[in-house]
Amino acid sequence: MKLFIDSADPKEIARLAATGLIDGVTTNPSLAAKNGMDYVDALKEICASVSGPVSAEVLALDTAGMLAEAKVFARIANNIAIKVPLTWDGLAACRALRADGMMVNVTLCFSPVQAMMAAKAGATFISPFIGRLDDAGQVGMDLIREIRAIYDNYNFDTQILAASVRGIPHVRESALAGADVATIPVDVFRALLNHPLTDKGLAAFLADAKKAGIRIRDE
Ligand code: E4P
Repeated sequence: MKLFIDSADPKEIARLAATGLIDGVTTNPSLAAKNGMDYVDALKEICASVSGPVSAEVLALDTAGMLAEAKVFARIANNIAIKVPLTWDGLAACRALRADGMMVNVTLCFSPVQAMMAAKAGATFISPFIGRLDDAGQVGMDLIREIRAIYDNYNFDTQILAASVRGIPHVRESALAGADVATIPVDVFRALLNHPLTDKGLAAFLADAKKAGIRIRDE
């Protein structure tokens, strides 16, 4: 499963990109507002540190407006993916952008049928929001499973991008359900390697080595 970072903060993203384990980035207007930088400037910096797809979300609600904003984003870097909402206008923009060779991430997906429509419009990525469904009392992961089944039934090559990830269980379950990508907030990404037995085991190995005076001798 590919791992994207869900953030619009270029500095945080650059630090995580240094792990060599970041496959892309997703941003949205709320993340951009939280970061406080000019959105286009932030995207420029992000694209300089990550070579995989970087999603930039349009603000227009009509197809023509979305395409005009997409042109601005497209000038930033070759790895920009245009993020459009799951509306009729959004899907029309998706078709046009795909015909022009752009990557498109269709966002705000909350149902399997919406995901099927996005795939028919040629979306590169579909973003089901699992955390927001959980918040609303549904089982977000069921949506990932149902989209996987539909896409496999018809060989749609749209990649399932698990979004609105709230914690490590979402990452684990997305991988088990066959999501192609999970986009992960910075704090969750940093916690991916955490396990108390790893810490305990490492401390015991080092204590035993110290007690026995073991050194790694360079001959
Ligand atoms: C990513 O593409 C989405 O915009 C993001 O994951 C939404 O997450 P949230 O539900 O935590 O705002």
